[in-house]
Amino acid sequence: METTRKPVVLVTGASSGIGLALIEILARKTDQYRVVATARHQSLEKIAAAGVTESDDFICRPLDVTSPEERQSLMREIEQRWEGVDILVNNAGISYRSVVEHLTEADERLQFDTNFFGPVHLIRLCLSGMRRKRAGRIINVSSVGGMMAMPTMGAYSASKFALEGISEALYYEMIPWNIKVTLIQPGFIRSNSFKNVYVSQAARDSVENSGTYANYYWHMGKFISRLMQRARATPDTIAAKIVNIMQHPRPPLRVPGSLDARFFTTMTRFIPRRFYHRILYRSLPGVKLWGTGRHDALEAASTLEEVIPANRKGPDTEA
Ligand SMILES: NC(=O)c1ccc[n+]([C@@H]2O[C@H](COP(=O)([O-])OP(=O)(O)OC[C@H]3O[C@@H](n4cnc5c(N)ncnc54)[C@H](OP(=O)(O)O)[C@@H]3O)[C@@H](O)[C@H]2O)c1
Repeated sequence: METTRKPVVLVTGASSGIGLALIEILARKTDQYRVVATARHQSLEKIAAAGVTESDDFICRPLDVTSPEERQSLMREIEQRWEGVDILVNNAGISYRSVVEHLTEADERLQFDTNFFGPVHLIRLCLSGMRRKRAGRIINVSSVGGMMAMPTMGAYSASKFALEGISEALYYEMIPWNIKVTLIQPGFIRSNSFKNVYVSQAARDSVENSGTYANYYWHMGKFISRLMQRARATPDTIAAKIVNIMQHPRPPLRVPGSLDARFFTTMTRFIPRRFYHRILYRSLPGVKLWGTGRHDALEAASTLEEVIPANRKGPDTEA
């Protein structure tokens, strides 16, 4: 990398949560970086509403990571304007809440297009430029869900496991080119993003009609939102870790993003799998009721919103 050229950072999903926190930090570091903050068309205004403004070294652009046209035209623009991307932060992501039986292929595609295929296509668009410079960084935002799976979150975990797998292969492939690949693995984060979950239609029907899996959604939904509200990690703390990775001379392949991520890394490494799965299953909230047909807690819920977000998001509801 030329010493006079400021590294160009591309951040996806910058309209809320971790992505927004990250560009807020980067907006104060334009003496060190040039920044391309991206969000879906309809969400760009959230960046402006947060008070983050454009300048010579900080631009905002529309990017739906699932759109090949938008990916390519943005990369062309960055190539012409600033000679390509030096640091790619694949942050944009969605999370489905659905048991496996309630997922459709369209749900699974949307989950993977956003969390896996989109980020991987973006990486490919950056690689030749990075190899030419023999320098670059790829930071993929994974999750504790990328090292362990939880009921009702199968599609999300599958997409993050896939992202972890391909990032690990890429890590080795890129060592000779001085391109550093890192996965940051946040655990639960204190933010409103649990309200952004996507829900399969069958999951919603099941909750509304006290179907077979209704108590799975009830217990897991309450459990996850409680853990997120009590979490010590915030989008700001994760964003600060991403900035550290950007500046680290030899960043590791995996960086736990929070204390619970550290705990689960240790647990999955040292506890024999058969015990680990048993312990985890027994610790699941309300698991004794699952499969019994009893929905006492669900019936006591004052609103459906307590169990599942009111605005169901899914492939049939996407703009
Ligand atoms: N929150 C957690 O507890 C947690 C834990 C572990 C890992 N993570 C990971 O951290 C990353 C950021 O999540 P967050 O917590 O900051 O959640 P968030 O507040 O819901 O932010 C997600 C971001 O991704 C964007 N996005 C969704 N689909 C997109 C698409 N097709 N193209 C471009 N952008 C898209 C959203 O944009 P819109 O505003 O347009 O929807 C939003 O800016 C995700 O990869 C997530 O899996 C989060």
